[in-house]
Amino acid sequence: MKLLVCPPTYFRIEYEINPWMSIANKADSAKVEEQYQTLTKTFLESGIQLEEFKADQRYPDMVYTANYAVIQDKLAVIANFKFPQRQGESELAENYFKQQGYQVQRLPEEIFFEGEGDFLRSGNRWFLGYGKRSMQEAGPLLSAILNKEVIPLELVDPYFYHLDTCFAPLNEDTVLINPGSFTESGLKTIRKYFKTILLTQPEDNQIMACNLICHDKIIISGKGFSEKLKSSLHQAGFMLIEVPMSQYIKGGGSVKCCSLILES
Ligand code: ARG
Repeated sequence: MKLLVCPPTYFRIEYEINPWMSIANKADSAKVEEQYQTLTKTFLESGIQLEEFKADQRYPDMVYTANYAVIQDKLAVIANFKFPQRQGESELAENYFKQQGYQVQRLPEEIFFEGEGDFLRSGNRWFLGYGKRSMQEAGPLLSAILNKEVIPLELVDPYFYHLDTCFAPLNEDTVLINPGSFTESGLKTIRKYFKTILLTQPEDNQIMACNLICHDKIIISGKGFSEKLKSSLHQAGFMLIEVPMSQYIKGGGSVKCCSLILES
């Protein structure tokens, strides 16, 4: 597995574009740096390769690389951010992927699409989260570009506004979900494709436990899992590594938001 990460050089809580963000609740810069070091060290020690994106002072949310794009082989479909505060990141991502030898595609600019934050792969199909940031209309366009089946899932909870905050495919047949983030029909769709592990404890929601990276049988996620969820994951055969992510939660993201999957 190879991930794209971005150091928190200019990470700040400067605006409020999701319910986790509060300008009054500033990030502590020493902890921000320390948590990034722990996260990247944990990835490397788990056998995950990393590429680093260079942060840009104009964009305080760049640490959340998952939103830059979606990658399939050597093709990058670049994000069209909903909020003006992040829109400039698309051009930086586009230039980066071109330089790295990727073929680059954009959706029409009126179609919001926030990259892998809302678009996750399991086996040969992709799942699109829509309704909060990305638009449902992105689905058929992405399906045509990637030549893959795309299954849309409506997101209904403002705190779980990206698909990767409430839906984590752990392998081709198991997914960890926060059931309160989906409609009844969305849950039915999810159950058609997966065996589900449900996140039901408030403490797991507070740390955005679904916002994880799963490499083979290792799950890397934020610190503070409930005993109940830990034991469900262990029973399903997964090993959990918890890393402190308190500063990144202030911006509305955790482990998965801070990583864009370049190679799975
Ligand atoms: N502050 C960022 C935003 O609201 C957080 C992004 C979290 N990313 C994610 N993939 N869920 O856009």
